[in-house]
Amino acid sequence: MRKQIVVGNWKLNGTTVLCHQFASGLADYKGSVELVICPPATHIDCLAGAASAHHSKVGVGGQNVAAQFSGAYTGEVSASMLQELGACYGIVGHSERRALFGETSEMVAQKANRLLEVGMTPIICVGESSLVREGGEHGKFVGRQVTEVLSRLAPSVESAVILAYEPIWAVGTGNTASPEQVQSMHAHIRAVAAPFINSVATRVLYGGSVTPDNAASLLELPDVDGALVGGASLELDKFLAIAGGC
Ligand code: 13P
Repeated sequence: MRKQIVVGNWKLNGTTVLCHQFASGLADYKGSVELVICPPATHIDCLAGAASAHHSKVGVGGQNVAAQFSGAYTGEVSASMLQELGACYGIVGHSERRALFGETSEMVAQKANRLLEVGMTPIICVGESSLVREGGEHGKFVGRQVTEVLSRLAPSVESAVILAYEPIWAVGTGNTASPEQVQSMHAHIRAVAAPFINSVATRVLYGGSVTPDNAASLLELPDVDGALVGGASLELDKFLAIAGGC
């Protein structure tokens, strides 16, 4: 049985005030859905500390991680550093990092391996552009992204990764993918991942303009195990409403 999970990706947003607001606001959360917030790396410590002070069950993750262990890599933050601050998850391969920072699947796999080595859970993002979808190549494209990353993972505990399907055309645009598009891609991702991981036990999240209004129709799909939420995760009531839709 896969436990549903809703992950908030704050991207380059958030303050210590927001961390405290979420930590206290989620203290009374009694739902069955696992909740995780990925603030900027500078705020992981604050959110994790506040969550612990409030006995709030919200998990904390990083939005990125260095592909290396340590050394002369100015500006990078390693998996063990994120972990020391209180992060248990790390987003890797987000389309913004692939497009804006030139991250390749090989780099995404290195980053996922660094997280796995310290016992953290990588949330591996994949997703096609509108051009690829219009050309009808989305299945092939996303399948290749999944294979390129999973085939490079060091053998480790099964189902220790989370996959996230985030069609680029749906991220931050308000154009949510339809339930049919999401279910069909998630089933495909699970099938493509099967040779590399225990894909039946692996959670596959959907991300891309998830809101309280559309969450229930997406999260009820058989191959959708949760959501990766950007904009709506910056507002506590919206984040909670999305989790309530699981
Ligand atoms: P939005 O929910 O703002 O579309 O962002 C999705 C996303 O990129 C989460 O990683």
